[in-house]
Formats: sequence, C-alpha cells, structure tokens
Amino acid sequence: MKNEKFLAEYSSEAAVKKYTRATAGSGIAYLLEHEYKAVYLAALHALPDATRRQPLQILEFGCGGGMNLLHLTSMLEHEGFKVEAAIGTDFSPVLIEAAQREARSYLNPDQQEKVRFCAARNEALLTDLSAELDRSSAALRSSFQFIFGVNTIRYCHRTGEQLNCAKAIFELLVPGGVSVVIDMNNRFPVFRSAIRDRMHKNKEEYYLPSLNEYAAPFAQVGFEILRKEHFSWIPHSAGLELTRVARIASPLLDRCAKSRAMRSLVVVRKPDVAVSQGR
Ligand SMILES: C[S@@+](CC[C@H](N)C(=O)[O-])C[C@H]1O[C@@H](n2cnc3c(N)ncnc32)[C@H](O)[C@@H]1O
Repeated sequence: MKNEKFLAEYSSEAAVKKYTRATAGSGIAYLLEHEYKAVYLAALHALPDATRRQPLQILEFGCGGGMNLLHLTSMLEHEGFKVEAAIGTDFSPVLIEAAQREARSYLNPDQQEKVRFCAARNEALLTDLSAELDRSSAALRSSFQFIFGVNTIRYCHRTGEQLNCAKAIFELLVPGGVSVVIDMNNRFPVFRSAIRDRMHKNKEEYYLPSLNEYAAPFAQVGFEILRKEHFSWIPHSAGLELTRVARIASPLLDRCAKSRAMRSLVVVRKPDVAVSQGR
C-alpha cells in the first residue's frame, strides 16, 4: 500500500522533469561531474585488481530518469574502464521510459548498445530483473561488479524492505564486488522536501534513516563496510548561483559540521572468496 503511494509520486510529469538531466538543475550536474564521480571512482578502485580490469557489468537501482547511470557510463570510458553492460532499474514505468529517451539523446550508438533500463523493485531486484531480462536468477547471481543507488534506498527503509534490498545486491554482486548507496542525511536540518513531507504525510512515509541504519542491513547480510560518512552541501535542485555559493562554502562546512552535510554515504564490498581463503 505504501509502495503504491510512492509509485504514484514517481509516475508524474513533475517527477520526469525532476529526475532527467535537461530539467533537473545545476546542482545535480555539478554533483555528477565532481562529488558523485569521485565517490564512484574511489569505489571502483576498491574492486580487486583483476575484477576492475574486466569489462564491467553495472547496475543502478531506483535510477529514476537515469541521470547517474548515463553519466557514469560515458565517464567510465574516459577513465579507462571498460563497460560491458549498464542496467538501470526503477519501479516507475514512467521514469523507465524517460530514462530510455535520455539514453537515446545523451549516449553515442556504441554506448546505447550497452545500456538498458527496465522495471524492477529495489526489494525484489533479483526476481524482477530475471523476469525483465529473461535470464535465470542463477545466471544473474554474482554477475555485477558494481551496484549503486542514489536517493532511493530510504524508500526500502520506509516499507521495511531494506534487508531484502541488501540481500539482492549481495546476491547480484561478484565476490569482491562493490556497492554504493547515497541518500538523504537525517541530520541535515533544512531539506525543503522533508519539511513539506512532515506537514502532509504519515511518519513512516517521510522517515529518514540514520547513517547507522543505512549501513546496518548491508553489514547484516555479510558485506564489509568500506565507507560510512556524511558528505556534500550541494542541493540536487540548486540553480547556478546556489551551486556556486555552496561549492565555496563546502570546505568550511565540512570542517565545522560534516555530520550535518546533506547526504549519507555507505560503500560496501562483498567478501572476495579468494582473498578470504588467503589465496
Ligand atoms: C528521489 S528519486 C531518485 C532518482 C534517481 N536515483 C536520481 O538520483 O536521480 C527516487 C527514485 O526511487 C524510485 N523508487 C522508490 N521506491 C522504489 C522501489 N521500491 N523500487 C524501485 N524503485 C523505487 C522512484 O521511482 C524514484 O525514481
């Protein structure tokens, strides 16, 4: 029932505008090009050497209009990584269609061949992906090197599905594979959306997990936690001027109040069997 409410929220024209590149704002463009890029590259460098050199299979869950995945796919080639396949999933068919349109306008034909967007729920990634891609669950297990989700896992916490999401990510990743989760920090005092939601929604519909709560399901299913911290002072929806001011203020804010930054970041790695057996 709660999921239906969230789905309705993410099936509107306004959601398409907010989560596609041309209309999303300067803040997200800056984050993709700088702060998120640095997080993703550092996480990819935490892959075992042999895994990192392979052609990568990447998955973004709760991808919305696909901004992160599309940017990452084109950026990785410039950074010397090979991408074999990049898959974006979301439970909103409207956003999946928008992401498919975005892929056609932002990627070259070669990149377009590798990218695919399909409908899947975060809490049932393995089963839904298996149905969408027409591949068995067994074939999908241990097949991705990198899985990430931005501003989406909080919905799993709101519906009590966070453990199922973490489990599916664990199953989909190769041994040594890495996952990145970025989401709203419950300690940032002035999210406009959080203030608005508090006035109009039930508590469980606007609940924001703490950093420890974001990390806990990943630890519980067996991941090694590589990073668990707060970061970033740039609002996704900021215009040019606010982005500029927030960039200038960021180093000072980091020094004085890092735990109050806008986002929570959790980076985790699935144990690498060869390494853990001392080979
Ligand atoms: C705040 S938007 C973020 C979109 C995108 N990750 C971005 O950063 O631009 C949250 C996204 O999570 C998706 N979402 C929420 N609950 C979901 C669920 N249970 N399964 C799959 N997607 C979900 C929504 O449809 C929406 O696209």
